[in-house]
Amino acid sequence: MRTRVGIVGAGPAGLVLSHLLAERGIDSVVVETRSREAIERTIRAGVLEQGTVELLTAMGVGARAVAEGARHEGIELRFGGRGHRIDFTGLTGRAVWLYPQHEVLKDLIAARLASGADLRFGATDVELRGITSDEPVLSFTDADGTPVHLRCDVIAGCDGSSGISRRAIPDAVRTDYFRAYPFGWFGILAEAPPSAKELVYAHSERGFALISTRTPQVQRMYFQCDPHERAEDWSDDRIWAELNARVAGDGFSLAEGRIFDRGVIPMRSYVCEPMRHGRLFLAGDAAHVVPPTGAKGLNLAVADVVVLARALEEHFATGATEPLDAYGPTASRRVWRAQHFSWWMTSMLHTDPAGTPFDLKRQLGELELVTSGTAAATHLAEAYTGWPLG
Ligand code: FAD
Ligand code: DHB
Repeated sequence: MRTRVGIVGAGPAGLVLSHLLAERGIDSVVVETRSREAIERTIRAGVLEQGTVELLTAMGVGARAVAEGARHEGIELRFGGRGHRIDFTGLTGRAVWLYPQHEVLKDLIAARLASGADLRFGATDVELRGITSDEPVLSFTDADGTPVHLRCDVIAGCDGSSGISRRAIPDAVRTDYFRAYPFGWFGILAEAPPSAKELVYAHSERGFALISTRTPQVQRMYFQCDPHERAEDWSDDRIWAELNARVAGDGFSLAEGRIFDRGVIPMRSYVCEPMRHGRLFLAGDAAHVVPPTGAKGLNLAVADVVVLARALEEHFATGATEPLDAYGPTASRRVWRAQHFSWWMTSMLHTDPAGTPFDLKRQLGELELVTSGTAAATHLAEAYTGWPLG
């Protein structure tokens, strides 16, 4: 078998790339280890930048995000027992959409399959060979047990933070920039009405909490916890008490309900450089991971493949190699900005278990700065709603 672009992974990066390439008349095959059902069920991100929604809409897959998602024109930063609104639209003219990642993936998969795309779910034994040759090969065993050797012009490694693509770049040429945080996020989904009109990012001496939403009937909330916490050790009552303690003040309390999903996620920052080796191009979480506080992960994956699709289009049209060389350095500028933003939001809002009273006071000073003038607030609003794509 042969294709122009072999894409490893059917997450946001892989599926958006396959769409953008198809729009440019470039064929691709997407190879994914999980089943379509598993992908469409996994609960992950919730926030789409305005540019991501505009891109999905331009690709013809944004209608449900716009109709069923909720446009949010600001967030609340809570500290010292009070809420302080950051008015995104007033500051930047832009907004974000609350629309879950697995719904984005459903929309992307349905549209790709409707246009006859080759998506291989449930693949096993996925291997990358000859990435520094002119014709790299993506080998795998198909869901029906058939061994496949897919010869490609290039391979896009879109297989997320625990995929295989990144490791195909030899240690001698790869630098891993890594930072682990001494806390995780305890996330829940609950059957309850919304507690607030906009997302609430709460700083408290007990640690960070985030009040998000999914639908008028289902709410998503997170609170900072020990990274080794076992979600099953927590009763519903204890979870509600902890969340309420972290957002308390000025009469605010949470609308509670049955908790039907819970889990602990680790917090880390990671960047792999270079993002390209030979004919392998990394995109999305395969190349970088951000802590979730800035809601950047999915959006950054989409931003990478916008740059990659343009580079591949130019390369295939003209044979020039410069666009391929420029991919990593171009994508990396946004990656490091997003790394900084995600680290900044995390360090401003979370309690460091080894922190001192000085650290707490410094955080409060920073939050006061962000919520009392327009300069720092505008920076936050621009970063959160998303810098221009491409
Ligand atoms: P992934 O979505 O991880 O997709 C990679 C795919 O590759 C997977 O389907 C995987 O099964 C497949 N794969 C893995 N190995 C192989 C292999 N060997 N062969 C073939 N396929 C393989 N981001 C935001 O922007 N906003 C948010 O609000 C937000 N909140 C989050 C909340 C949580 C709880 C979590 C966990 C993440 C959150 N993120 C958020 C991050 C976001 O979900 C990720 O950044 C995003 O999924 C990255 O997309 P991706 O396509 O690069 O990787
Ligand atoms: C959600 C996740 C985030 O990481 C975030 O910053 C905001 C919202 C969410 O899942 O709704």
